[in-house]
Amino acid sequence: MIGLNLRRWVSMLLMCSGVSLIAATLLGSENPAKQATSANQGAADEKVVIPPGKENLPAEDVFKNVEILKGKPASRMPGMMTALNGLLGVKCAYCHDVNAWEKEIPTKITSRHMFAMIGDTNKKYFSGENPDPITCWTCHRGAAKPTSGQQEIMAAMQNLPEDRKKLIADITASLGENKDKPAGEVFHNIQFFKALPAARLLTVMNVYTIALGVDCSNCHVIGAWEKDDKPAKRMVMTMNHVVADVNAQLFPDQPAKVACYTCHRGAEKPVNIPK
Ligand code: HEC
Ligand code: HEC
Ligand code: HEC
Ligand code: HEC
Repeated sequence: MIGLNLRRWVSMLLMCSGVSLIAATLLGSENPAKQATSANQGAADEKVVIPPGKENLPAEDVFKNVEILKGKPASRMPGMMTALNGLLGVKCAYCHDVNAWEKEIPTKITSRHMFAMIGDTNKKYFSGENPDPITCWTCHRGAAKPTSGQQEIMAAMQNLPEDRKKLIADITASLGENKDKPAGEVFHNIQFFKALPAARLLTVMNVYTIALGVDCSNCHVIGAWEKDDKPAKRMVMTMNHVVADVNAQLFPDQPAKVACYTCHRGAEKPVNIPK
């Protein structure tokens, strides 16, 4: 649906949000004149106009209010703007006063925060990976507001596979009177959810299976639940920090809006580029 152009422009975004060698290579082979054409043919309702001959000047010498593209050729602006339309499923006016493109309006300011968060997250938690795993697409998937997965997860909870339901029922039964005690006291190796009532930890476990589209055995040796041998279980520890950090950066004074499902969408590996 979203098409190849967008895929190409995402490489550019990857480049903007961090240091991505693959993206840099892709960009090196791009022809600025061609970029402008595809930007005009894309889903855009408006065009970025670069005065002829100024394509290769630094973006800040051509436009009025540049931070993200500072030091990069002005020719990157049209592609990046078209990409943003597709990544969020919006038109230019969503982030702009179309009579004063340089003006800062709330959605444009939010986008700047989003770029900063992405650069920081990729560097801190996914260093060395190429191209960057977190992009606007990872969460937005063509929508202005990403999902936290609440509805999807509630629906899937009603439809858990029988064997998984039986595992949970058996563990819950074995908890007996301990089911409301803190998980840290009842289970053997709790690092994160120490204070959560023991039975609630099992709800978290079900949420993990749904958010990632996996079985309990993806993270556990069945029956030896406390063991940390599976890489996926150890990865969850990093992911807990990612979730906390991203929410603290984006929504310091609001309830968290980014959860496992926001990026994973029922898949073990999130998708960072439209297919
Ligand atoms: C999701 C938000 C978003 C969307 C959608 C978007 N932009 Fe932008 N736009 C930005 C941000 C952020 C900047 C600042 C870029 C920078 O700092 O390098 C910007 C900068 C610009 C500038 C430079 C203005 C100046 O003089 O400083 C122009 C022109 C522009 N956008 C046009 C467009 C057009 C045309 C579209 C639609 C094809 C569009 N934008 C879609 C967020 C958006
Ligand atoms: C880690 C997940 C994540 C990533 C990555 C991400 N966003 Fe967001 N974004 C969110 C969440 C969550 C919201 C809040 C949605 C809500 O209010 O329900 C949001 C909201 C926004 C909004 C405001 C929407 C509104 O109507 O208030 C804009 C604009 C936006 N994001 C732009 C971007 C851009 C541009 C990028 C890439 C540079 C990006 N986001 C990357 C999670 C993300
Ligand atoms: C994505 C990985 C993942 C999946 C899938 C998962 N778990 Fe866990 N599980 C963990 C992590 C991480 C912990 C440790 C939680 C903590 O430290 O707060 C844990 C802890 C547990 C514990 C406590 C073990 C102890 O004694 O310390 C039990 C029991 C458990 N899980 C059962 C399950 C069941 C049953 C399923 C399937 C419904 C499941 N888990 C699915 C990652 C996972
Ligand atoms: C900001 C986006 C984001 C959020 C939120 C997020 N993850 Fe991830 N997760 C990723 C990325 C990116 C990878 C790396 C995928 C890859 O290697 O291609 C990953 C990898 C993983 C893996 C390893 C998968 C594998 O097969 O290598 C597990 C397990 C995992 N995440 C669990 C979780 C859990 C549980 C949560 C919620 C506590 C969570 N993630 C929240 C982005 C996210």
